[in-house]
Amino acid sequence: MDLIHEKRVELKEQRASSQQDLTTCLIKIRNEDGSAVLSGEEIVDNCILVMLAGHDTSSILLTFLVKHLAEDPSVHAAVVNEEIAKSKAYGELLTWDDLAKMKYTWRVAMETLRVAPPIFCNFRTIVKDFEYGGYLIPKEWQIIWAACMTHMDETIFPDPSKFDPTRFEQQNPAPPYSLVAFGGGPRMCPGN
Ligand code: HEM
Repeated sequence: MDLIHEKRVELKEQRASSQQDLTTCLIKIRNEDGSAVLSGEEIVDNCILVMLAGHDTSSILLTFLVKHLAEDPSVHAAVVNEEIAKSKAYGELLTWDDLAKMKYTWRVAMETLRVAPPIFCNFRTIVKDFEYGGYLIPKEWQIIWAACMTHMDETIFPDPSKFDPTRFEQQNPAPPYSLVAFGGGPRMCPGN
C-alpha cells in the first residue's frame, strides 16, 4: 500500500508514466468520469496474483524438468547438445531469439507440462445445463477440470506414461482443449 501511495504521488507530479510498470498501469485504469477503477487493495491483490501465478507455476515446471533430465540420460544429452547451448559462453545470458532456437528443450518443457502440469486442476461454475457422457451437469454447479487426467488419456496421448518429448515435433500434437496446462477459454493463463 505504501508503494501504491508513492506511485500515485509520482504519477500526479508527472515523475512516473502510466505505462511504467504493473502498479502504475493498474492505478491509471479510469472510469469515464475520471475516477479510479481499482482500489488500493484491489491493486495489491492483482499484483500478488500475478506474482504467485507466475512464480510458483514456473518454478514447479523447472523442478520437474530438472527431475526428468536427471532420470533420462538420452533426453539430457539432447538438451545439452542443442546448437544454442554450444554457442554460448559459460554464464552468458540467453536472449528471446535464443529461446526460439531451443527447439528440443522447448519440447522437453512441453512434455514436462503434459506429465506434470503445475496447476493440475482448477474450478469452473456451470453457466447453463448440459449433458456429458450421459450425465446432466446442472447450471450453477461448481466443477473441477483436471489437466492431469486429460493429459493421461491414451486416446489423446498414446502411451501416456512415457516421457516422450518427440510428441511435440508435430505442429498440433493434440486436439483443442486437450493440452491444458495453461487452462483454456477466456480465463486461460495470460503467462502462456
Ligand atoms: C509454466 C508456467 C505457468 C503455468 C503452467 C500456468 C498455468 C495457469 C493455469 C492452469 C491457469 C488457470 C487457467 C484457467 O482457469 O483456464 C492460470 C491462470 C493465470 N496465470 Fe498462469 N501459468 C504459468 C505462468 C504464468 C505467468 C508467468 C504469469 C504472469 C506473469 C501467469 C499469470 C496468470 C494469471 C494472472 C492467471 C489468472 C487468469 C484469469 O483468471 O483470468 N501465469 N495459469
